[in-house]
Amino acid sequence: MNRISLPVKHLLLLIALAGAPAFALEYEKDIMPIFIEKCSDCHSDSGKVKGGLKLDDPKHLSGRLGKNKLVVPGDWDASYLFVTLFRPEGDDDAMPPKGKGERLTPEEVVLVQRWISEGAEILGEKGEKGPMPKPGEPGYIETGDSESEGMPAAPQPREWTNREGKSITATLLGVEGEVALLRLANGTVYRYPIENLSEESRAGLKSGD
Ligand code: HEC
Repeated sequence: MNRISLPVKHLLLLIALAGAPAFALEYEKDIMPIFIEKCSDCHSDSGKVKGGLKLDDPKHLSGRLGKNKLVVPGDWDASYLFVTLFRPEGDDDAMPPKGKGERLTPEEVVLVQRWISEGAEILGEKGEKGPMPKPGEPGYIETGDSESEGMPAAPQPREWTNREGKSITATLLGVEGEVALLRLANGTVYRYPIENLSEESRAGLKSGD
């Protein structure tokens, strides 16, 4: 044990906790179900154990937590487990291997990142805490959870009219030079020349609503 007295440590911990969300993520409850769904074909106590890794066995995994290990509590950036989820599909280190299973959603990857940052609690034990990346910082992951991030909502479909008065319902994905990228409900994306849109629709390109 080090020399900071325990009561002081506990007090600091309480102060730290007061500013945190009311719940801390736990491996067994919050993370393992995701891995069981998406990784257990190859990393299961009751099946294949590729790379010697069992993600559905908390006791096994807890032995792989610590400095320079698979999961470094408080340090998502140094945690190879996180790296495999963060790397783009097809990358040598990305998991699951390309074409061999379903990747985690961005929301699920953020959950793993938060679990690590909160100290990677597993079997009731927790390590050090660390910061999550802020928007714009390396490692920050954009999710569909736009409300809480204060980001603009996802674009919604609306009606667009051309100069002949014909209209379509489509979602504006963006503007590239002289064309508007409009996605129809069936998924087709049109590169529509902006000059062919009605004046009203052109105005809509700017206001974005
Ligand atoms: C189709 C099989 C397959 C699936 C599905 C799969 N993996 Fe793997 N995984 C492997 C193989 C094979 C290795 C060993 C790779 C190597 O040694 O190069 C591995 C290795 C790993 C390692 C490195 C282990 C170590 O100690 O170095 C991690 C971490 C990992 N996988 C995480 C995951 C996660 C998380 C998922 C689910 C999102 C997943 N894997 C899904 C096949 C798979």
